[in-house]
Amino acid sequence: MDVEKVLCMVRGSGETSYAANSKLQEKVILAMWPMLEEAVGGIYRNLLPQKMVVADLGCSSGPNTLVVVSEVIQIISNQCLRVRQQPPEMQFFLNDLCNNDFNNIFQSLDQIEQIVRAEKGTISVPHFIAGLPGSFYGRLFPRQSVHFFHSSFSLMWISQVPKDIGDTRNGMPLNKGNINIGKTSPPLVVKLYQEQFHRDFSHFLKLRFDELVPCGQMVLSLPGRNRKDILNGGVSTTWALVAESLDSMVLEGLVEEEKLDTFNLPYYAPSAEEVEAIVNLQGLFDIITFQTFQLNLDPFDELDDDVVLDNVQSGANCTKAIRCVLEPMIASHFGSAIVDDLFSRFATNVAKHLLKEKTKFPSLAISLKKKK
Ligand SMILES: C[S@@+](CC[C@H](N)C(=O)[O-])C[C@H]1O[C@@H](n2cnc3c(N)ncnc32)[C@H](O)[C@@H]1O
Repeated sequence: MDVEKVLCMVRGSGETSYAANSKLQEKVILAMWPMLEEAVGGIYRNLLPQKMVVADLGCSSGPNTLVVVSEVIQIISNQCLRVRQQPPEMQFFLNDLCNNDFNNIFQSLDQIEQIVRAEKGTISVPHFIAGLPGSFYGRLFPRQSVHFFHSSFSLMWISQVPKDIGDTRNGMPLNKGNINIGKTSPPLVVKLYQEQFHRDFSHFLKLRFDELVPCGQMVLSLPGRNRKDILNGGVSTTWALVAESLDSMVLEGLVEEEKLDTFNLPYYAPSAEEVEAIVNLQGLFDIITFQTFQLNLDPFDELDDDVVLDNVQSGANCTKAIRCVLEPMIASHFGSAIVDDLFSRFATNVAKHLLKEKTKFPSLAISLKKKK
């Protein structure tokens, strides 16, 4: 799978689009407001720049992209009021892979003006917004040119499916029955995914270190896993339910077995310990804040306890959240004809699963500052 070509969220603003179904990710962005405020406010007070460059890496399309930009503008506006300074001119870069629906973002940019204007008591911050296509696993900016990087729920997408995962052992595909790390994945599959994430994340840190100005900062979030439960974390459960749905289609002759055997997601959700170890090993950033919080795959389920009020409705909500992320990858590998059937089976499987437990998973949020 060529990840850069195949990975993208469902385009547009229709019923199954990412724009219409990214409430889960919006919750993460909103939960990170204090971290964002501390980081962006800190950079501004430290440097009092006249020009400030901010980039959102893996911005996708839809309301979340606008939330990030308007939050940063609001923070700067508040800071300028507090220290009685003229606001800096702000340049925002919205980055994602080339297949991202940048047009959707550009067409909704006027909403940022409305959000910002609606903020009472703020001063107007001149800002310029540009789309920046390209992989964040490569250089995106000149050296020491960016003040702040934001990236929310994007870094779990690794740059490639680890090469050897496609191997066979005794005539059987190495990761038979799974589309990512799953209950029956052998230790080698776990090791290959971990090593790929470690390579990618280390490389990402080095690239951003080069691009950040001295004292520049980053706020990153991504889904995580419990260190002690590597085969069966919250996210693994979701992928296992997708695999089960695909398998039922293989049994009915609707999907070729060979197609399923060769489908593995370029996805790795690390434990907090792994992320911390990579940052410390690299030695390029100080960890300012590191938080882990629990998320529910159904973004409309606000109950903290384990009670599921309506498992069918909740299964449908989880399905929308997953479909808008996976559909392009599924359609590219299996063909678009299977998509409706697959996600209808997935919704049934999630609803059944919810009778046993909620699909909760840990989420990691980290604020990093470039070392001197
Ligand atoms: C789940 S979406 C999150 C989008 C947005 N940040 C949010 O919180 O709603 C993940 C995004 O990361 C992008 N992405 C994944 N790998 C990437 C890479 N190597 N470079 C740039 N963007 C990438 C995907 O295309 C996708 O749009």
